[in-house]
Amino acid sequence: MPATVVVGAQWGDEGKGKIVDLLAQQSDLVCRYQGGPNTGHTIVVGDETFKIRQIPTGIINRKPCVIGNGCVIDPEVLIGELDMFEELGYPTDEVYVSGNAHLIMPWHVAIDQASERRLGHLNIGTTKRGVGPAYADKASRIGIRVQDVLDPKILRQKIEIALAEKNLWLTRIYDEEPFELEDVASRYEQYAKRLRGHISDTSLIVDEALRAGREVLFEGAQATLLDLDHGTYPFVTSSNPSSGGAATGTGIGPTRIDVVIGVAKAYVTRVGEGPFPSEIEGPEQDRVRDLGGEFGTVTGRSRRCGWLDLVALRYAVRVNGLDRLALTKLDVLSHFAEVPVCVRYRLPDGTETEHFPAHQSDFHGAEPVYETLAGWEEPLDGCSSAAELPAAARAYVDFVERELDVDVTLIGTGAERESVLTRA
Ligand code: IMP
Repeated sequence: MPATVVVGAQWGDEGKGKIVDLLAQQSDLVCRYQGGPNTGHTIVVGDETFKIRQIPTGIINRKPCVIGNGCVIDPEVLIGELDMFEELGYPTDEVYVSGNAHLIMPWHVAIDQASERRLGHLNIGTTKRGVGPAYADKASRIGIRVQDVLDPKILRQKIEIALAEKNLWLTRIYDEEPFELEDVASRYEQYAKRLRGHISDTSLIVDEALRAGREVLFEGAQATLLDLDHGTYPFVTSSNPSSGGAATGTGIGPTRIDVVIGVAKAYVTRVGEGPFPSEIEGPEQDRVRDLGGEFGTVTGRSRRCGWLDLVALRYAVRVNGLDRLALTKLDVLSHFAEVPVCVRYRLPDGTETEHFPAHQSDFHGAEPVYETLAGWEEPLDGCSSAAELPAAARAYVDFVERELDVDVTLIGTGAERESVLTRA
């Protein structure tokens, strides 16, 4: 199928990197459509582990890559990754960056950090990379775009205008140090020299690839429940990771998208604050965290762990129009004699629902209703096909598929690139 979107179906860190890496091998172009360096895709290839935050994962497969208009870009991070891949011998000349993407400026990072501090116990738990403040400026129409770096005069002017306001904000509201025009302008002029050759009309590149019948992969960062519109607001990111974002974030029409694949872990994790109905209570949560290596790629933070939540996944199926599901990290559940799965929520008024609550108070007060499935207590690393999985593991996958009415076509059974089983 020419245009495929891969989207996180939970709260992020579902192992999208590995699934995208697999699909990228058959793709001609790989695009990011939202988010910035707040993401951290981890891909294990042989002895090497890549952690990429800004460039699409397709780079590892030496594919042309697009960073779409819907992304925000920290030029230092992007240049660091370009340098790293070049040193490793990966071609980077086909990394195309949209001129309409917005730049993360130093004040965005400072404001992200200061605002989280100021919120105290009400903080969002952001990755503190300046992503939210950069999107806020985009919406306020005072952002600085990638194409602005092409003209040093415009760039300096825009930095000057922004600083006049941001420095007041930083010093008076947050009690932080101001930024000097000269420092910021000269730093960004240097970045401009390095990035100039990558700045492109990425909407046209994607359109031409699709017209030529090429396989284009749209790689979501973050996930459905972190979506600014559809996630658990305000504990969300500031962009639209859900599949609709792929169209607006790259500049193609929604009718061009052929397939949407959701990626979900066989359990759930969440970083940052916010309600989490199926969060595991007691030491079993630590066990899942240790077995699954659930520590953030970008921040190193411990992730909160919960049992699979089918109410939330059902919602992800709806919001993204999922055609298929990839279920990752099934091996992590191999250590449990029984595996609870959240099938419904009990709401504060005592009623039960299998649909994600539309009202935040219902979601905040939701209690999970579990169905307990048999565990398999066997390692999965010897399985080379889905048919070879232990019967209870197959029953687990069948159960998910039945409840969601979506085919589970890929199953992750380990960290390595090869550990993904295909299922017809
Ligand atoms: P921000 O995107 O840094 O503004 O953070 C907003 C929320 O999204 C916080 O709860 C973060 O922990 C979460 N978040 C952002 N990026 C990721 C990700 O790649 N994986 C999981 N959570 C993320």
